[in-house]
Amino acid sequence: MTTPARVKMPSATSIVARSYPDHVIGIENRLPWRLRTDLALFKSRTVGHAIIMGRRTFESLGRPLPGRLNIVLSREPFPEQSNVQWARDVSTALLMADIYAICNLQRQFFVIGGERIYREFSDVINRVWLTEVFSGRINGDAKFDFEFSLNDWWSHSERDYPATDQDEYPFRITCWVRRKPQHRERFVDEFRSSDSEVLSKLNDWLALQTSNPMEDAVEQEQLSLFPKP
Ligand SMILES: NC(=O)c1ccc[n+]([C@@H]2O[C@H](COP(=O)([O-])OP(=O)(O)OC[C@H]3O[C@@H](n4cnc5c(N)ncnc54)[C@H](OP(=O)(O)O)[C@@H]3O)[C@@H](O)[C@H]2O)c1
Repeated sequence: MTTPARVKMPSATSIVARSYPDHVIGIENRLPWRLRTDLALFKSRTVGHAIIMGRRTFESLGRPLPGRLNIVLSREPFPEQSNVQWARDVSTALLMADIYAICNLQRQFFVIGGERIYREFSDVINRVWLTEVFSGRINGDAKFDFEFSLNDWWSHSERDYPATDQDEYPFRITCWVRRKPQHRERFVDEFRSSDSEVLSKLNDWLALQTSNPMEDAVEQEQLSLFPKP
């Protein structure tokens, strides 16, 4: 197979949990609730993938999330570990996520917050797993105020979960899909200076896209992780 000069890059998906009706996502750099089922779903969706986050969110987690490449955005150099990479800006983070996805034959990567990072990546996100937490009014200092316009987004699937011993509030998970996906492309030459492994994997990755178009495959992969309550 001949490698084309320009190739379509992996798709970006966000995962976010916000309160209803105030759209709060955090307070004093932590989550304002305890929702173990939602966290378990977050884990099953993201394991094996690259996850992009802001420095404050990384600190709030307390440790790198295992089984994933943790790409941490900060303007200051950040201590790297085996599964943690520092990105100085948005384009560096996207390049790292693209390389990881291609090398691991993944069709997508995830943007996992917080407030500033969701805003800065909003133009490239094609899919959002939105958890609405029915907490009533709560205080917070970080929000996800994005409104999903039905002209640009459609609600692909939706499921309700009750409050339980494990989950402090009832919540609803909706998968929002951008009607016209933002297809990012790169010249293959961009990888020549950054990573040699990616060049060797590129043809396999492209073959995967040809056998099953990107958006369909992302959909199948993600919906299979949407278990019945
Ligand atoms: N409910 C949810 O789903 C969810 C998910 C994630 C996080 N959260 C919550 O959200 C809150 C954190 O959000 P936040 O907005 O305060 O912080 P954040 O988005 O996690 O991180 C912000 C930091 O990222 C770095 N950064 C941002 N844009 C950058 C750019 N273009 N280039 C380089 N670095 C950049 C900066 O780090 P430096 O200052 O080091 O330069 C900035 O201070 C916490 O309360 C957390 O618990 C909630």
